[in-house]
Amino acid sequence: MLELTALADMRAWSRAERARGRKVGFVPTMGALHEGHLRLVDRAKELTTRVALSVFVNPLQFGPKEDFKRYPRDLARDRQLADSRGVDCLFVPEGQEMYPAEAAARVTPGPVADTLEGAARPGHFAGVLTVVAKLFHLVEPDVAVFGRKDFQQAALVKRMVADLDFPVTVEVAPTVRELDGLALSSRNAYLDSDQRRSALALSRALRAVEQAWRGGDADPATVLRRGMEALRAPGVEPEYLVLVDENLQPVTRVTARAVAVVAARVGPTRLIDNVVLGEGVAADPTVRGGGGA
Ligand code: PAJ
Repeated sequence: MLELTALADMRAWSRAERARGRKVGFVPTMGALHEGHLRLVDRAKELTTRVALSVFVNPLQFGPKEDFKRYPRDLARDRQLADSRGVDCLFVPEGQEMYPAEAAARVTPGPVADTLEGAARPGHFAGVLTVVAKLFHLVEPDVAVFGRKDFQQAALVKRMVADLDFPVTVEVAPTVRELDGLALSSRNAYLDSDQRRSALALSRALRAVEQAWRGGDADPATVLRRGMEALRAPGVEPEYLVLVDENLQPVTRVTARAVAVVAARVGPTRLIDNVVLGEGVAADPTVRGGGGA
């Protein structure tokens, strides 16, 4: 596996691969890699012939009171995992080269960024879209793979690519879960064993919403009430549980296409999760036993 730091080297590698007729796949991450990230690599390998994975903890997408400084970092482990999963090029840009001075230009997201995570984390999606736009310009991938786990992020990246005519196909891969339902996240590392147990409330709430809908209820308020009951757990502070369509707008009737989206604090740790009701939490791949691990 090749490892690159300089921005110019990244672009040169990608252009050379494409000049040889190869298709370049790209998986952007903030590192602390887990099976969720690695399944994105698998998907990129199915769709392309060369895969680049970036590790960059992007300061622009963290609020002043958020966890930028203590975000988990372990490049040696990331390197080993990426290599063993068949990543061809690991891109680890440096903050100083990515953001050399006070930037004059940023990507401003549209109204899809004003709700849910965007409302809870002002400026977050401007930071995400700006770094993703930069990474797309540096890697110039044919296909970029994102996770459904960050539903609103994937929706916004797709919109940016469409609105600004980026020559890249965005692929969204399913959420990978622990066997008990907890969605994998780098931030799960913050949880102690009690909090880990309480964190199950998020996927439990999504399942309760799904079951209420499968039981024949199509009224969002009733279905969400069932979810809120399931979200109750010691140390869990719900932030939102809503049913939205693919444009993040609240639904007036619950259908198979509706997405239940949840955010909650478990102790000091903020977690998010979601499920497309027609697909269901149970259909997501699990760490062991699911999806050909
Ligand atoms: P990060 O949180 O490291 O996630 C990188 C990618 O992995 C995202 O597309 C995310 O949705 C996906 N992912 C995380 N957990 C997953 C899971 N359990 N199952 C499937 N996919 C999962 O998201 C970011 O980094 C950043 O915002 C980034 C896009 C890299 C821009 O800085």
